[in-house]
Amino acid sequence: MKQNIALLGFGTVGQGLSEILLKKRTELKQRYNYEFEIVAISDLAWGTVYNPDGLDIKTMLERVKRGGKFSQDVKDWSAIEMIKKSNANVVCELSFTNLETGEPAISHCKAAFENGKHIVTSNKGPAALAYHEMKKYAHNNGVEFLIEGTVMSGTPVLNLAEGPLAGCEISAARGILNGTTNYMLTQMENGMDYNEALKKAQELGYAEADPTGDVEGYDARAKVTILANVVMGTPISISNVSCKGITKISINDINEAKKQNSRWKLIGSVEKKDGKVLASVAPEIVPLSHPLAGIMGATNAITFTTDLLGDVTMVGPGAGRTETGYSILTDLMKIQTEIK
Ligand code: HSE
Repeated sequence: MKQNIALLGFGTVGQGLSEILLKKRTELKQRYNYEFEIVAISDLAWGTVYNPDGLDIKTMLERVKRGGKFSQDVKDWSAIEMIKKSNANVVCELSFTNLETGEPAISHCKAAFENGKHIVTSNKGPAALAYHEMKKYAHNNGVEFLIEGTVMSGTPVLNLAEGPLAGCEISAARGILNGTTNYMLTQMENGMDYNEALKKAQELGYAEADPTGDVEGYDARAKVTILANVVMGTPISISNVSCKGITKISINDINEAKKQNSRWKLIGSVEKKDGKVLASVAPEIVPLSHPLAGIMGATNAITFTTDLLGDVTMVGPGAGRTETGYSILTDLMKIQTEIK
């Protein structure tokens, strides 16, 4: 059976996913027996479109590249109406991240669950603020809430912890969890100034819609919260994670660290110790000999400390159009091939 997909948000991630689907349609069918149609898209900037037999993805992508509103299959529907009225079985929630209320994404997720539709999302709002509530809501309606893309984009961190590492107790997770700031620190070390590095990170599709979330550490803090809840089964909230970003790190600080054979990294960490949970995000100076010192650009890395394997480290892209688009694809395929 074909999977009918609705995209809520057609920005960097929605377009990245669509480009992958367009390019790989034949390969996905032949190698994985995965068949799909994008039947609906709703975006604040481009409008809402719906075709129960499948939209013309190429035309949609070309349309937004030219900067115009959608012009065929147009519907006068709000995002919630699109969720309710379309024949999609999966809604990809790709609207902007709001780490204060989680809205409008939380309402989108609830509407999807109530209408028997799975949610796949890279939006950190619902995952960081209401993970257990969303999981339960989905479960009660017989559908899934899948969030691989919320941590380290398409690098399969959450699927690794929940899949191949199942059976291990994970007592700590520590690493570089924000692509934008790691990219900026790398570029600043190469001589670029702070504002230029941030601008470049935005152009490359790494930064949040409001990049304050990246540079102040709020994005990494949300990811630490997600890791604690999803991977370590520790129900902490965002406010339990102390947080400091990179805004105070100057070129001078970077050069001083260099002289000491060290480098600044923004480190996110959560650890269970003596019945307590310690969680933080903060810039740290790490010696060049440290494994995290070699993680450059938008690449991220995470080390899980486990009871049965010791430390397990995964390194991979942490942000980006295709990379996050791919995270959505992995969860879509998981629904189709493992869950239905
Ligand atoms: N702004 C985020 C980052 C995007 O730079 O890591 C991926 O979550």
